[in-house]
Amino acid sequence: MDEITKREANNEDMLFEESEASLRPKRLCDYVGQTNLKEMLNVFIQTAKLRNETLDHVLLYGPPGLGKTTLANIIANEMGANFRQVSAPSITRSGDLASILSSLEAGDVLFIDEIHRLPKVVEEVLYSAMEDYSIDIVVGKDTMAQTIKIDLPPFTLIGATTRPGDISSPLRDRFGIVNALNYYSIEELSQIINRTSKVFDYKIEDKAAYEIARRSRGTPRVANRLFRRVRDFSQFMGDEGIIKYDITKDSLSRLNIDDDGLNETDHKFLRAIIEKFKGGPVGLSSVAASIGEEVNTLEDVYEPYLLQEGFIIRTPRGRCVTEKAYRNLGIVYQTGFIKWT
Ligand SMILES: Nc1ncnc2c1ncn2[C@@H]1O[C@H](COP(=O)(O)OP(=O)(O)O)[C@@H](O)[C@H]1O
Ligand SMILES: [Mg+2]
Repeated sequence: MDEITKREANNEDMLFEESEASLRPKRLCDYVGQTNLKEMLNVFIQTAKLRNETLDHVLLYGPPGLGKTTLANIIANEMGANFRQVSAPSITRSGDLASILSSLEAGDVLFIDEIHRLPKVVEEVLYSAMEDYSIDIVVGKDTMAQTIKIDLPPFTLIGATTRPGDISSPLRDRFGIVNALNYYSIEELSQIINRTSKVFDYKIEDKAAYEIARRSRGTPRVANRLFRRVRDFSQFMGDEGIIKYDITKDSLSRLNIDDDGLNETDHKFLRAIIEKFKGGPVGLSSVAASIGEEVNTLEDVYEPYLLQEGFIIRTPRGRCVTEKAYRNLGIVYQTGFIKWT
């Protein structure tokens, strides 16, 4: 991506962030799906409140757009606590984290997004903060250097990550509640779309909401984004304030979202494995290079859904496409190179 496209993409992200904030449910009961996690959190929150304690530290992981930030906000809200949010890449030195931690008030929720990206030295400051609510900081220089211990008020750390495997075990072990977020069902996504339609005060037919849900790759953020785009087309066509099924289908195909909910990048990804690497196995970095995408983007954003839906499989020697991928692209399926005669 060149600089300008990158900047535009970032701007777009910021716009999404803004309108996303208005779409975030504030209470646990309005948070759709993730039933087990929700029930468990409800127990832990209620009992912590009964005992007048802070909630144990929470680690949430799963692909982007599944509701980690939203849930962290809800937890703070349900605890009646202040919500403080930082992104791990913005904390580069241990002093940065020390000053954030020492400004916390009793009961605060500190949310660290992309927590797998904390530098090791910074992470080490977190250990004692999480375990004993204290940190050691070094003041002065050379022979005058002294370590002083600062006590912190009790607080709850909520970490979020798309890459649980990149979190060191000492850090992971200090979270009392560790949970994955799963992809959403079509019914749950329909509910989310109907809620969004109410927030935006723009009606949508049930069948249309279902169609968007079906093609949202199990992800609320995608569902909300597609809703906004489809609404644009629909409003442009003079829809009288209700999004209809036919317009929805038409808009989605104009947006190049296929019947399985896959988009252009998914297609490029699958097509490259088939056409350039004979269907695999192939390493992810080779595929990424061949289609000009970042390895991390493919791994965190695209691949998890393609794996879950069975378009690709992971083998010890790399990724392979499945028959379902050939069918999606309309390419005749060929198995291996052995010809039986
Ligand atoms: N369970 C949910 N119920 C309703 N809306 C949700 C839910 N999860 C996510 N969303 C919506 O999807 C958007 C993206 O969620 P977010 O919490 O930012 O995801 P993540 O932090 O995991 O990337 C939010 O703006 C919110 O409106
Ligand atoms: Mg987030």
